[in-house]
Amino acid sequence: MDRLTRTLFGSDFEWGVSTAAFQIEGACDADGKGESIWDAFTAKKGKVIGGHKADIACNFYYNFKEDIDLLKKLHIPNFRFSISWTRVLPDGTGKVNQEGINYYNRVIDYCLEQGIEPWLTVYHWDLPQELEQKGGWTNRQIVDWFSNYTEICARSFGDRVKHWMVMNEPSVFSGAGYFFGIHAPGRTGIKNFLPVIHHVVLSMVAGARKLREILPDANIGTTFSCSHIEPASQSKRDIAAAHRADALVNRLFIEPVLGLGYPVNEIPVLSDMQKYILPGDEENMHFDFDFIGLQNYTREIVKYSFLTPYIHARLVKAAQRKVPLTAMGWEVYPRAIYHILKKFDAYPQIKKIIITENGAAFPDDLIDGNVADVQRLDYIRENLQQILAARQEGVNVQGYFVWTLTDNFEWAEGYHPRFGLVHVDFETQQRTIKSSGYWYSDFLKG
Ligand code: BGC
Repeated sequence: MDRLTRTLFGSDFEWGVSTAAFQIEGACDADGKGESIWDAFTAKKGKVIGGHKADIACNFYYNFKEDIDLLKKLHIPNFRFSISWTRVLPDGTGKVNQEGINYYNRVIDYCLEQGIEPWLTVYHWDLPQELEQKGGWTNRQIVDWFSNYTEICARSFGDRVKHWMVMNEPSVFSGAGYFFGIHAPGRTGIKNFLPVIHHVVLSMVAGARKLREILPDANIGTTFSCSHIEPASQSKRDIAAAHRADALVNRLFIEPVLGLGYPVNEIPVLSDMQKYILPGDEENMHFDFDFIGLQNYTREIVKYSFLTPYIHARLVKAAQRKVPLTAMGWEVYPRAIYHILKKFDAYPQIKKIIITENGAAFPDDLIDGNVADVQRLDYIRENLQQILAARQEGVNVQGYFVWTLTDNFEWAEGYHPRFGLVHVDFETQQRTIKSSGYWYSDFLKG
């Protein structure tokens, strides 16, 4: 294979790193910020490994200049970050907190001064707790709450921000947060999950339409998590189980948005959603996004399981398969991203794909001021090789964002999984660029 160089991807290919407000900012109640469901969830016992909280996290709220300087130093031209809803609207609706707007203005302006393009995610999981008390994503009123919040973001930042993502990974925040209860707000069961799915789809579209109306020239996308899925065997039952798991993991949120409706044939319980679908909703479920953000980390192997409700399919854990693992217990399998790109490129409705997240956690060692994270470096390089292969076969993938710039708060896993190109000592907030960070920088420099 040819040496991997930036030029092979073409001059228009977008390169960056991705982050999320709750995982890096800290300053959880500074300058009028309201409580989010993640503030409330992390305050409860037993929800996050080690009882870790994100009150300080990477202290990005106060130290953002230092981290944006790092981006510049590493030649990273695009920075994806999210807006914290409760900094802008402490109660989710009602009075705007000008201090919150001022903070994001400072971050955006500083990026632009340094020649770094901001890419904004409107919603990366930190719902206002005040809205959760009114039912959160299970309450249909959220469509209005969310469009109002998006409108405020568009009017406040749209004069300088050209690239927007409405949501981050709807399947994860709705599945983990409202079905399995392992993420905030910690609710469980199909009764919560079904209305949440529909309200999230309506909100994603309502938010996107608001952005389009207010910012007709903006580049508007939204992001989906996706895993390449393979059956555990060639038996009919495993193949059918893999097909159902694929519908749940990869198709549930994107297909309605593309105008294809929910995958009810593969997941029959979705027909119970009918009671939440009101007349006229069908027209409000799809949007012509300028790009689709795909976020891929691994592949999953799926087996038929009589005991698993609704989909009769279960994952065969990577640890049982004797394959290389990341610190999250996910299989290292770079070919997955190639398959994912081919799969999503086959939807004629998708105009352009950007890989808005890809990366890996490994247990890094800081030795004499260096972190020789060879595994992460290889992971990123091999994933890029697979992306290039797909692109050379005609897949319209036009960007790649590493998850993530600095080690940060990894949700229910706390601070142990380290995903950064830059190491963070959470005691001192000291940053150390890892080998992977230097590699990415050299690659981008050409
Ligand atoms: C999320 C990030 C998360 C990352 C690694 C994605 O699911 O968007 O917030 O930290 O994956 O787990």
